[in-house]
Amino acid sequence: MHTILQLQQVGKIYGSGNSKLSVLKDINFSVQAGATLSIVGPSGSGKTTLLGLCAGLDRASQGTVTLQDTVLNDLNENQLAAIRNRYIGFIFQNFQLLPTLTALENVMVPLELRGEKNIRKRSLDLLDKVGLSERSHHYPTQLSGGEQQRVSLARAFSNNPSILFADEPTGNLDAETSDKVVKLLFELNQEAGTTLILVTHDMELAAKTQGIIKIKGGSIEANHQQLG
Ligand SMILES: Nc1ncnc2c1ncn2[C@@H]1O[C@H](COP(=O)(O)OP(=O)(O)OP(=O)(O)O)[C@@H](O)[C@H]1O
Ligand SMILES: [Mg+2]
Repeated sequence: MHTILQLQQVGKIYGSGNSKLSVLKDINFSVQAGATLSIVGPSGSGKTTLLGLCAGLDRASQGTVTLQDTVLNDLNENQLAAIRNRYIGFIFQNFQLLPTLTALENVMVPLELRGEKNIRKRSLDLLDKVGLSERSHHYPTQLSGGEQQRVSLARAFSNNPSILFADEPTGNLDAETSDKVVKLLFELNQEAGTTLILVTHDMELAAKTQGIIKIKGGSIEANHQQLG
């Protein structure tokens, strides 16, 4: 076991001058490779912001974020993009599918960026896994919220990430689809050893992960993690 992610004294401030807003302060935790972790807390407490910093989508204002022994603070945009493509899967709270691409093409993008083979077949298999093989040629606007969420999930899996971040992955799903998605997330963790960090308001889902971090007002209120 090794540490895949470490945050030390991390803070995030949005804006500048009089409109400065401190959203995260003094965040410290680390995650072992292969672990599963939930981040919970009230709306507006900073969960999405925190995931974005961990995944190199946004920069910390203070402290250091270290992913796979690389300090993300030191990297430029191109280097961050390369790290994301190589190691990270991200399921966004608002899906963030590319509107001009079909479901299938959205899933193919990370694989194309890596120059991989059999991209189309692998992407179709992933869409099949999330129950959307019949929707592969639909554009995001032609899909329901839950369907978009599942495309986003298939896309996040496509580059076999070492670490998968999922921001409320079941937030828009009915109970049955939600169960399927949760099963997929944990299967990936168990079969491929993918580290899973998810944000959820669903305490039943949170209870399925090995650790839970509670965020309140931008700080860690409680950290229930099995370290080691
Ligand atoms: N780009 C931004 N500029 C300024 N403030 C922001 C920005 N993004 C988020 N915030 C603010 O930061 C705080 C934390 O937002 P964040 O999205 O991280 O919360 P959250 O815990 O994910 O909430 P939710 O459960 O509703 O998704 C909120 O007060 C939000 O308004
Ligand atoms: Mg959020």
